[in-house]
Amino acid sequence: MGKIRLAIAGVGNCASSLIQGLEYYKDVGENDQLVPGLMHNVFGGYKISDIEPVAAFDVDNRKIGLPLEEAIFAGENCTKKFSDGPRTGVTVERAPVHDGIGKKLGEVIPIDKDAPTVDVAKVLEDTNADVLVSYMPVGSAEAARYYAEQCLASNTAFVNGMPEFICSTDEWGDRFRDAGIPCAGDDIKSQVGATILHRVLSRLFIDRGAEIIESYQLNIGGNTDFYNMLEEERLTSKRISKTEAVQSLVPYKVPLRIGPSDFVPFLKDNKVCYIKMTGKKFGDVPFELDVKLSVEDSPNSAGVMIDAIRASKLAIDRGVGGQLISISSYSFKHPPQQFPDDVCHQMVEEFISGERER
Ligand SMILES: NC(=O)c1ccc[n+]([C@@H]2O[C@H](COP(=O)([O-])OP(=O)(O)OC[C@H]3O[C@@H](n4cnc5c(N)ncnc54)[C@H](O)[C@@H]3O)[C@@H](O)[C@H]2O)c1
Repeated sequence: MGKIRLAIAGVGNCASSLIQGLEYYKDVGENDQLVPGLMHNVFGGYKISDIEPVAAFDVDNRKIGLPLEEAIFAGENCTKKFSDGPRTGVTVERAPVHDGIGKKLGEVIPIDKDAPTVDVAKVLEDTNADVLVSYMPVGSAEAARYYAEQCLASNTAFVNGMPEFICSTDEWGDRFRDAGIPCAGDDIKSQVGATILHRVLSRLFIDRGAEIIESYQLNIGGNTDFYNMLEEERLTSKRISKTEAVQSLVPYKVPLRIGPSDFVPFLKDNKVCYIKMTGKKFGDVPFELDVKLSVEDSPNSAGVMIDAIRASKLAIDRGVGGQLISISSYSFKHPPQQFPDDVCHQMVEEFISGERER
């Protein structure tokens, strides 16, 4: 198999964990047994060492011009360091800001709106990038779509890690399909995160014949993702994405309150999630379930992204463009189509074996 030439938009905490993971798992091969942290050692023939960063874009003055392996620890990035990043030869380049930096992020991220920016599509072409992963902050409606356009202009697969609805819409899906370029998204569904846990618990209620009466999922954290999300106006799509991920598995309407709930600076990249579910079971007898999950946020997303990147390259190899239904439903909260997670998993295996086109 060839290499997967990766471009990254937004060198924040998620990018940091992903890049660290490329070094951490570089020796994992086909014959290794279960490797903790990975869902696939090898994905459709692609090893993690086949992923090769070729370009990175940001707007933070403190990251621009730095080698990627230094930028992932610069600025406000605060996720756990579990590895040195690999030396990639990639320097972080300045991209247009659009609406990437809102009011709250503007307080802590120094930007220079008047400084010259690179032509992102040209960089993607010149570096021969296969896949671009977008890690734009929540609420960056314009910036997110800008990167999708740059992918269409440069024949680069687009993977949308954040909650703007692009790959999950027919409009964009059709544009990518017509261009013969794969896209996957939207809003990464972490490995063992709040969303998948809430989904699994909801399915448990349904499968065991219990009725879900109401439920909330409160989330707190101390990274820039949570700081940005103090701006309620930027949160609409995030709340929809997280709420639909749960509601879509329940065959009746449930009162739900799900979303980011507060910023607690000293938590840094540790995210704490509280789920409460109330229900009724045999004899209409009520019961309650309370769960707490405490998890380092960014590595939780990187383990999933590493599969979405490899799935996108596999689609390129097979000449498949447009929405990648299986990996989107497995790896993202707001995919084009929702399925229970065991079905998503099965669909991804069928995609890998070639039984399923997308
Ligand atoms: N487990 C997770 O961490 C997780 C799960 C699901 C979704 N997400 C989503 O992924 C996204 C990234 O999360 P993060 O924790 O890495 O955020 P972050 O705040 O650490 O990083 C965002 C980066 O984007 C940069 N940026 C802003 N505007 C830009 C632009 N126009 N062009 C290029 N770069 C720009 C910022 O300077 C920053 O470096 C968020 O939308 C988040 O909600 C994360």
